[in-house]
Amino acid sequence: MANITFTSPIMHRDKTVYAVAGDTKTILALADEHKIPIPFECRDGNCGSCLIEVSYVEDKPKMGMALTEKEKARLKELQVLSAEEIEDAEVRDMPPRFRLACQYIARHEDVRVSFTGTPGGS
Ligand code: FES
Repeated sequence: MANITFTSPIMHRDKTVYAVAGDTKTILALADEHKIPIPFECRDGNCGSCLIEVSYVEDKPKMGMALTEKEKARLKELQVLSAEEIEDAEVRDMPPRFRLACQYIARHEDVRVSFTGTPGGS
Protein backbone atom coordinates (compact mmCIF):
# COMPACT_ATOMS: atom_id res chain seq x y z
CA MET A 1 0.00 0.00 0.00
CA ALA A 2 1.31 3.42 -0.87
CA ASN A 3 0.07 6.88 -0.06
CA ILE A 4 0.21 9.18 -3.04
CA THR A 5 -0.23 12.84 -2.16
CA PHE A 6 -1.09 15.15 -5.02
CA THR A 7 -0.31 18.82 -4.74
CA SER A 8 -0.77 21.66 -7.20
CA PRO A 9 -1.44 25.40 -7.19
CA ILE A 10 -4.63 24.64 -9.13
CA MET A 11 -6.04 22.44 -6.35
CA HIS A 12 -7.69 23.90 -3.26
CA ARG A 13 -5.75 21.53 -1.04
CA ASP A 14 -3.52 18.51 -1.23
CA LYS A 15 -5.18 15.17 -1.75
CA THR A 16 -3.82 11.84 -0.58
CA VAL A 17 -5.01 8.64 -2.18
CA TYR A 18 -4.09 5.06 -1.44
CA ALA A 19 -2.65 2.92 -4.17
CA VAL A 20 -3.28 -0.75 -3.56
CA ALA A 21 -0.20 -2.96 -3.58
CA GLY A 22 0.07 -4.90 -6.80
CA ASP A 23 -2.06 -2.36 -8.62
CA THR A 24 -0.36 -1.45 -11.85
CA LYS A 25 -2.22 1.75 -12.57
CA THR A 26 -0.21 4.72 -13.66
CA ILE A 27 -0.22 7.88 -11.58
CA LEU A 28 -2.27 9.50 -14.33
CA ALA A 29 -4.94 6.78 -14.16
CA LEU A 30 -5.01 7.08 -10.37
CA ALA A 31 -5.34 10.86 -10.62
CA ASP A 32 -8.13 10.50 -13.15
CA GLU A 33 -10.02 8.14 -10.89
CA HIS A 34 -9.85 10.68 -8.05
CA LYS A 35 -10.60 13.72 -10.23
CA ILE A 36 -7.14 15.19 -9.80
CA PRO A 37 -6.55 17.47 -12.79
CA ILE A 38 -3.10 16.48 -14.09
CA PRO A 39 -3.01 17.73 -17.71
CA PHE A 40 -2.62 15.05 -20.37
CA GLU A 41 -3.08 14.45 -24.07
CA CYS A 42 -1.67 11.19 -25.41
CA ARG A 43 -1.52 8.95 -22.29
CA ASP A 44 1.34 7.23 -24.08
CA GLY A 45 4.56 9.02 -23.15
CA ASN A 46 4.67 11.07 -26.33
CA CYS A 47 3.39 14.58 -25.64
CA GLY A 48 4.99 15.46 -22.29
CA SER A 49 1.80 17.20 -21.04
CA CYS A 50 1.60 15.09 -17.90
CA LEU A 51 4.93 16.17 -16.39
CA ILE A 52 5.04 15.72 -12.61
CA GLU A 53 7.65 16.13 -9.93
CA VAL A 54 7.95 13.23 -7.52
CA SER A 55 9.35 13.53 -4.01
CA TYR A 56 9.77 10.72 -1.55
CA VAL A 57 8.07 11.12 1.80
CA GLU A 58 9.82 8.37 3.70
CA ASP A 59 13.45 8.67 4.66
CA LYS A 60 14.53 5.40 3.10
CA PRO A 61 16.23 4.52 -0.18
CA LYS A 62 14.04 4.98 -3.23
CA MET A 63 12.94 1.88 -5.01
CA GLY A 64 14.88 1.29 -8.18
CA MET A 65 12.98 1.68 -11.39
CA ALA A 66 14.26 1.72 -14.92
CA LEU A 67 13.02 4.59 -17.01
CA THR A 68 11.67 3.47 -20.33
CA GLU A 69 13.54 4.84 -23.34
CA LYS A 70 10.39 6.66 -24.38
CA GLU A 71 9.98 8.44 -21.04
CA LYS A 72 13.68 9.27 -20.88
CA ALA A 73 13.63 10.73 -24.39
CA ARG A 74 10.61 12.89 -23.63
CA LEU A 75 12.06 14.12 -20.29
CA LYS A 76 15.33 14.98 -22.04
CA GLU A 77 13.38 16.91 -24.64
CA LEU A 78 11.60 18.82 -21.88
CA GLN A 79 15.06 19.53 -20.41
CA VAL A 80 14.14 18.45 -16.91
CA LEU A 81 16.81 15.78 -16.45
CA SER A 82 20.24 16.72 -15.18
CA ALA A 83 23.31 14.83 -16.42
CA GLU A 84 23.55 13.24 -12.96
CA GLU A 85 19.92 12.08 -13.09
CA ILE A 86 20.45 10.56 -16.52
CA GLU A 87 23.45 8.66 -15.19
CA ASP A 88 21.54 7.59 -12.07
CA ALA A 89 18.71 6.30 -14.26
CA GLU A 90 20.99 4.53 -16.74
CA VAL A 91 23.59 3.11 -14.39
CA ARG A 92 21.78 2.64 -11.08
CA ASP A 93 18.12 2.39 -12.13
CA MET A 94 17.34 5.26 -9.80
CA PRO A 95 14.30 7.31 -10.76
CA PRO A 96 14.72 11.01 -11.53
CA ARG A 97 12.73 13.79 -9.86
CA PHE A 98 10.60 14.61 -12.91
CA ARG A 99 8.43 11.93 -14.46
CA LEU A 100 5.56 11.50 -16.85
CA ALA A 101 2.38 10.66 -14.94
CA CYS A 102 1.16 8.43 -17.78
CA GLN A 103 4.30 6.29 -17.54
CA TYR A 104 4.96 6.22 -13.81
CA ILE A 105 3.46 3.39 -11.78
CA ALA A 106 3.19 3.77 -8.01
CA ARG A 107 5.42 1.42 -6.06
CA HIS A 108 5.28 0.28 -2.48
CA GLU A 109 6.38 3.64 -1.13
CA ASP A 110 4.82 6.95 -0.16
CA VAL A 111 5.37 9.78 -2.59
CA ARG A 112 4.32 13.35 -3.15
CA VAL A 113 3.36 14.26 -6.70
CA SER A 114 3.45 17.94 -7.71
CA PHE A 115 2.18 19.40 -10.94
CA THR A 116 1.64 22.94 -12.15
CA GLY A 117 -1.60 22.45 -14.06
CA THR A 118 0.07 23.76 -17.22
CA PRO A 119 0.69 20.98 -19.77
CA GLY A 120 4.37 20.06 -19.62
CA GLY A 121 4.95 22.63 -16.87
CA SER A 122 7.41 22.01 -14.08
S1 FES B 1 -0.10 12.23 -21.51
FE1 FES B 1 1.30 12.51 -23.13
S2 FES B 1 3.20 12.04 -22.21
FE2 FES B 1 1.77 11.60 -20.65
